[in-house]
Amino acid sequence: MHDAETTVAATDRKAAALAAFKDLARDPGVPKPDPILVADNVVRRFGGLTAVEVNHVEVQRGSITALIGPNGAGKTTFFNQLTGFDTADSGTWTFNGRPINGVPAHKVARAGMVRTFQLTKALSRLTVMENMRLGAQQQKGENFWRALIPGVWRGQEEEITERAEELLVRFKLDAKRDDFAGSLSGGQRKLLEMARALMVRPELVMLDEPMAGVNPALTQSLLGHVKDLREQGMTVLFVEHDMDMVRDISDWVIVMAQGAVIAEGPPSTIMSDERVIDAYLGAHHDAPLSESELEAQLHEAEAALEAEIHETDGTTGGTSAPEPETAEEKQK
Ligand SMILES: Nc1ncnc2c1ncn2[C@@H]1O[C@H](COP(=O)(O)OP(=O)(O)OP(=O)(O)O)[C@@H](O)[C@H]1O
Ligand SMILES: [Mg+2]
Repeated sequence: MHDAETTVAATDRKAAALAAFKDLARDPGVPKPDPILVADNVVRRFGGLTAVEVNHVEVQRGSITALIGPNGAGKTTFFNQLTGFDTADSGTWTFNGRPINGVPAHKVARAGMVRTFQLTKALSRLTVMENMRLGAQQQKGENFWRALIPGVWRGQEEEITERAEELLVRFKLDAKRDDFAGSLSGGQRKLLEMARALMVRPELVMLDEPMAGVNPALTQSLLGHVKDLREQGMTVLFVEHDMDMVRDISDWVIVMAQGAVIAEGPPSTIMSDERVIDAYLGAHHDAPLSESELEAQLHEAEAALEAEIHETDGTTGGTSAPEPETAEEKQK
């Protein structure tokens, strides 16, 4: 974990985060006292559409920062650029002061910056435990597929299993360790994805709609886990549409509209900001990728993974699997 933060009592962390934001201007891109992530001039175009055009933004270390904005504002696309899941047309960004633009996703994760996905990416035909191991491979830089083959982690296997067990207990998924991820409820999949992200012991956790589609019974538990991340010294940047949740857990809010950061401010007043009201009123509600398209991509990735497993244990199964991260990258 970073610097002296681990010595701060858990109860002081929210106070410390709030103090950092106390006198900040509500301007887009306002400098923070101790930013863990700083992005400049990040642009991503799809044909004629400029999905992201962020001039400058900073995320305060140790805070829970919400990233909000109407559908199609570019939040997910911005996450994809920062975490190396997509290639920006231009832009520079630093994590802990080190440039990481152009760095591929697994190396970004190993550097301590992880993200989860708007539509969960738990691989349904793998067990909960196998999904956790896939999270660990990012840490070790192992090939995506090789992570599942027994023996390839050499001495690290025990450590990885121990870490996974510990996280599964924390997220109350330990009883499901040998169940297929596909048998979990939507909320449990969200929990699994968060637990899996923590396998790399990240400093910055980026969550894309962690509460979306989750049964109300699990919502409180998920919110609790997000708050826990800050208490354990991590920084959280999360995308959320539900303003009650944003008010409940965030210390600061960054607002995007039409690809740009248009306002920032505290959760209690951000929705009364003129710029934010205009952005939401002017928004057209277009869906990026349909559920069925994403489902098809997930099946494709799973089929490729199964083929690879069969190939390595000598059974039939397949032609060569596609480049692993390609299928992964295409998903949101
Ligand atoms: N792969 C892609 N190809 C073409 N256009 C894309 C692609 N991904 C996103 N877009 C477009 O970029 C814009 C930003 O989309 P993005 O998914 O980043 O928005 P968002 O803020 O995450 O929205 P939501 O709140 O609905 O998740 C949208 O107009 C979307 O249609
Ligand atoms: Mg999105």
